Amino acid sequence: MKIYDRSYFERWYRDPRDRVSTRDALARKVRMAVSLAEFLLGRPIQTVLDVGCGEPPWFPVLKRMRPAIRYTGVDSSEYVLARFGKARNIRRGTFGGLGTLRLGRRFDLVVCADVLQYVETRDVERGLRAIRALLGGVAYIEAFATEDAMVGDRDEWRERTAAEYRRLFRRAGLTQCGPYSFVKLDEFDTLNALEHA
Ligand SMILES: C[S@@+](CC[C@H](N)C(=O)[O-])C[C@H]1O[C@@H](n2cnc3c(N)ncnc32)[C@H](O)[C@@H]1O
Repeated sequence: MKIYDRSYFERWYRDPRDRVSTRDALARKVRMAVSLAEFLLGRPIQTVLDVGCGEPPWFPVLKRMRPAIRYTGVDSSEYVLARFGKARNIRRGTFGGLGTLRLGRRFDLVVCADVLQYVETRDVERGLRAIRALLGGVAYIEAFATEDAMVGDRDEWRERTAAEYRRLFRRAGLTQCGPYSFVKLDEFDTLNALEHA
């Protein structure tokens, strides 16, 4: 089983030889997701759910942008829970088990960044359905397809084509509306035809 411990995050997030993203790239990504959610909702976002949140790098960027935001993280890593759980409101849980967590509200922005490729297909199906139920705005869900030939941590990487991912999102009732961004179309019936896939 894959272990997401301190050395994992050191290697893939901070070691200049292996790290796969930069602070600036992350900040641009967060701004894009927040802006899209606020554009579609027509108001500032108030609640964020971050599934497979990790250390969690989205938290400080979101707090800087929207200090009053209510953030909930979910992760299964013992290291993440011990080090950040209390201070950053991270709940113990898995992607596939998201629906059992009784999170008790819907979220303006649901984030799942750099996680799906490490999750088995049956759990992806369950987790996406749970995200749909918890979604009150925009879901930012990164899905790296075989065609993307991604580099980085390839250990226990589940290969899926773009067509397979599209099928998974469609079956979960999530419609693409921007880069890695999804909505429940029935709740955004004001969207014009070319604003979504
Ligand atoms: C590559 S890190 C991404 C962390 C963060 N989302 C980011 O954008 O940097 C993957 C994270 O997903 C978590 N994770 C992996 N599989 C998971 C699962 N099935 N359920 C919940 N969390 C999972 C790991 O513990 C780790 O924190």
